[in-house]
Amino acid sequence: MRAIELFCVVFWCLCASAWASTNREPCQSPSMTSGTLSVSSTGGHDIAEGHFNYNSTAKKLRFVENESHSHKSSHMDVLIHFEEGVLYEIDSKNESCKKQTLKYHRHPMDLPSDAHYESEAYLGSPSKSEQGLRVRTWNGKLPDLHANYTMLTTSCGCLTVSYCYHSEKTDLYFSFMNVETEVDDVHVFAPPAYCDGVALEDTPDDHSFFDLFHD
Ligand SMILES: *[C@@H]1O[C@H](CO)[C@@H](O)[C@H](O)[C@H]1NC(C)=O
Ligand SMILES: *[C@@H]1O[C@H](CO)[C@@H](O)[C@H](O)[C@H]1NC(C)=O
Ligand SMILES: *[C@@H]1O[C@H](CO)[C@@H](O)[C@H](O)[C@H]1NC(C)=O
Ligand SMILES: *[C@@H]1O[C@H](CO)[C@@H](O)[C@H](O)[C@H]1NC(C)=O
Repeated sequence: MRAIELFCVVFWCLCASAWASTNREPCQSPSMTSGTLSVSSTGGHDIAEGHFNYNSTAKKLRFVENESHSHKSSHMDVLIHFEEGVLYEIDSKNESCKKQTLKYHRHPMDLPSDAHYESEAYLGSPSKSEQGLRVRTWNGKLPDLHANYTMLTTSCGCLTVSYCYHSEKTDLYFSFMNVETEVDDVHVFAPPAYCDGVALEDTPDDHSFFDLFHD
């Protein structure tokens, strides 16, 4: 118990100093994250909800849409190797796989190094335990997509809380919940065997992660 209390005090001090620091350079997200990702249109329509795993060192993302949540006949299961620029669309039921190029690398799990710091705020109550969250707001442009974004990260751990994507074509809102800084199964980042030998379909340079979500 004592150890836990000490840990909490130390942790609180670290966070407090992070709060006090004037350094507002874009932070680095943890190397491993997993949790629930929910995507909606700003009009309020649910677009997708599911489980994500992200390795920010290797820049590999897996997103599997929650079947029981989806109203669609098929549910999304995608694996993206951003560094290599490859997107796998996986269908584990009939063991089919589609492979496409994905040359555009930006997505909501990474705060871009050129993000502009906007402000810091406490959502909820700062004085009541478990009743609030300190966040930083960042924004920036995605000129190649003719889009803008506004992103909220936790002040202490640089976890993405939400990401608002605004382009001429579409507005999307991403929320991240129940995030852990670990991944249960490292195999989620490896394409299944039935993806071997599948031809890589070439796509335009501005084909992006955001294209996966349509209202
Ligand atoms: C994440 O990627 C790094 C770099 O490729 C690798 O060393 C590490 O093992 C990966 N972790 C997992 C859980 O896949
Ligand atoms: C999927 O949705 C169901 C029902 O809404 C929920 O009970 C379950 O926890 C969800 N699973 C994931 C991985 O989010
Ligand atoms: C697998 O199923 C999906 C939808 O359920 C379908 O679109 C696709 O064509 C199927 N692929 C094969 C190879 O049967
Ligand atoms: C992005 O933001 C700039 C400045 O705030 C604005 O002029 C521009 O119209 C925005 N672009 C889009 C696609 O919303």
